[in-house]
Amino acid sequence: MKSLLGKRILVCGKGGSGKSSLITLMANELQRRGYEVILLDGDASNPGGLARLAAGAKRGPQPLIDFFGGREKVTCPVDDPSPLLRLSDASQVVEAHIDLAEIPPQYIIRKDNLILLQVGKIQKAYEGCDGPMSKITRDFIIKGDYVTLIDVEAGIEHFGRGVEKHVDVVLIVVDPTFESFEIAERVTKLCRLMGVGQVMAILNGAQTPQMESMMRENLGKREVQILGSVRYDPEIRKAGLEGSALGWCPALEDLAKITGKLEALPTAEVIL
Ligand SMILES: Nc1ncnc2c1ncn2[C@@H]1O[C@H](COP(=O)(O)OP(=O)(O)O)[C@@H](O)[C@H]1O
Ligand SMILES: [Mg+2]
Repeated sequence: MKSLLGKRILVCGKGGSGKSSLITLMANELQRRGYEVILLDGDASNPGGLARLAAGAKRGPQPLIDFFGGREKVTCPVDDPSPLLRLSDASQVVEAHIDLAEIPPQYIIRKDNLILLQVGKIQKAYEGCDGPMSKITRDFIIKGDYVTLIDVEAGIEHFGRGVEKHVDVVLIVVDPTFESFEIAERVTKLCRLMGVGQVMAILNGAQTPQMESMMRENLGKREVQILGSVRYDPEIRKAGLEGSALGWCPALEDLAKITGKLEALPTAEVIL
């Protein structure tokens, strides 16, 4: 069926809710289903976490902000909403999508059918806000038959920067905390205002059926749609503790169901 080809799926939620872990498992499941997966690490404040979890790499690839000319060329989308331009010929990335062949190898980590790129990380004190990295997350659209999963920083600041502009699906990872419910409600409302095709929550890490039904009930009252639920899995916790790659684990079964549902969703065409 491969209905997710060409789609950009953004994963957001509270800090520590499980965004990077679930994105890694979803990338594994999508590959099992025959997809080539682009993983875009758009979290400027978390050093290398996704590259380690998803590809077993000690550090991330060279940041894409270098490819686009650094902070001199890439502006914060709040001050300047103008589109991201190529350094080579000043063409707009949202008009002429990126061909992976344009990107030199140091910007890419490949593992099987997974291609990992990262927008950039805050490295130095007083270097400035992470707005320029957000503009790359917003506009970095890849040409070809891929599905793109985007990991963003915790909370909802990315909405203030319009990162969701070219996104087909927003998934909100909700852990068993009240704060997560509040974030899920706000994200849902913001996505509807922005015209995002689909916005849905994934419950993560409920340790008892009672806990899960409380989560469902609370989100239901807030009119947050639920795509599925991922169990508490000690294997995920272990990978997080050891700083190792997240390979096979029991929770993959949950991600298989969730990914199946995602494939079956009617998604609106992305508005550019
Ligand atoms: N379903 C789960 N079961 C057990 N531990 C989990 C689960 N999901 C996430 N974790 C753990 O929670 C912590 C935060 O997860 P992470 O994916 O880094 O979150 P985020 O990217 O949202 O900050 C990590 O230690 C991770 O191993
Ligand atoms: Mg993370």
